Amino acid sequence: MESRARRFFTAEYGGEPRVYRAPGRVNLIGEHTDYNEGYVLPTPIDRHVYVAAKPRPDDRFRVYAADFRQRKEFTVGDTRHDPDRPWSNYVQGVVAVLRDEGHSLRGADMAVTGDVPLGAGLSSSAALLIATLRALWDMNGLELDSLEAAFLGRRAENAFVGVQCGVMDHFVACLGEHGRALFIDCRTNDHRLIDMWPTHRVVVVNTMVRRELAASAYNERRAQCVEAVRIISRSDPGVKALRDVSPEKLVEHWDALPPVLQRRARHVVTENQRALEATGFLETGDMEGFGDLMYDSHESLRYDYEVSCGELDALVDATVDMDEVAGARMTGAGFGGCTVNLVEADYVAEFTETIKERYRRATAKQPEVYLA
Ligand code: GLA
Repeated sequence: MESRARRFFTAEYGGEPRVYRAPGRVNLIGEHTDYNEGYVLPTPIDRHVYVAAKPRPDDRFRVYAADFRQRKEFTVGDTRHDPDRPWSNYVQGVVAVLRDEGHSLRGADMAVTGDVPLGAGLSSSAALLIATLRALWDMNGLELDSLEAAFLGRRAENAFVGVQCGVMDHFVACLGEHGRALFIDCRTNDHRLIDMWPTHRVVVVNTMVRRELAASAYNERRAQCVEAVRIISRSDPGVKALRDVSPEKLVEHWDALPPVLQRRARHVVTENQRALEATGFLETGDMEGFGDLMYDSHESLRYDYEVSCGELDALVDATVDMDEVAGARMTGAGFGGCTVNLVEADYVAEFTETIKERYRRATAKQPEVYLA
C-alpha cells in the first residue's frame, strides 16, 4: 500500500514524496462512552490510510484521492466546505485547525489511498485526519506530541467536518500499537497499552451495511446524554458527565429521567463498568470473562442505546453457540458497520467460513472478515 501511494503521487505530480500513514481501529469494549468522559479499549487494525506528500513553495494544497479518482485544490486560508468531495473536508479541516493554533504552514501536493473500509465503523476518517496531520507535522517541522495531535484531529472532525465525535479514534490512531489494546480514561487522558493474548484473535466482521457517522443519530445520542446529566445535576451538582454516575446513583435519580434517557444513561453507566472490568480481565488473561462482557455490551447497545441494527444482531447471534468464540459485539458508532469477535486462535479459519455462511443465510448479504 505504501508503494501504491508513492506511485499515485508520482503519476499525478512527478517527483518523490514521503509517505505517512495512520491505522483504522476496532473498539473491544467501552462504546459510546468516550464523549461521556468514560473508558474505552480500542486497538489498531492492520489497515491504514496513506498520505504521500511533498511540500510546495507556495500556500496551495493539491490533493488527489486516488481511491475516488477525485482532486481538490485549496489554499491555506480557505475554509469553504466541499459537499461534492466529503473526504477533502478532513484534509482541509486539519489545515484549518493547525492554522488556528498559530502554526504557519506551507502548501503541499498530496496523494491519498488506503485499505480501511469506508463507512464501516473502523475509523477511516480518523485515520485520514491523523495521516494528514502526520504529513503536515513533519513537512512543517511542527512541535507537537502525539496526544496534542489526537486532540487536534478530533477538533478538525468536530469543528470542521461537523461530527461531534469523541477522542477515542484519533487517540488510538496516534498512540495505538498493533497487537496491543489501548485503555483510555477519556476524562484524564491517562492511557496504557495492554498486550493481547496469543490464545485469541480479534476478528472483525463487516455487515457491509453503511451508515454515515454524521447521520443525526450520533449527535442525537450525544445530546441525550447531555440532557440526562443536566437533569441529574440539578439535585447532584457534582455530576458533570455520565462518568460521574455510578449504578447506585442512577437508581437514585431514575424517576427524574424520562424513559428514553433512563435507557441511554443505563447503557453508559453500565458500559463504563464493563470497560473497567474487561480491562482487568485482559490483564489477567481471563478471555471468557472478557467475552461475556462483550455480549452484555452488545445487549445494552441493542436495547438501551438503540444503535444496533438487524444485520449486527444477526452476526452476534450467530456466534453464541460457538464455544471457541469468547465474545462478540457491535463496534463503533453502530447502525451498521462491523462486529468485533474474540476467537480462539486455531478456530479463526473455521469461524470465518461459518460466520459468512450463517450471515448469508440470515440476511442474503455477503460479509467481509478482517483480522485485527
Ligand atoms: C464513533 C466516534 C467515537 C465513539 C464511537 C462510539 O466511532 O468517532 O468517538 O464515540 O463512535 O463508541
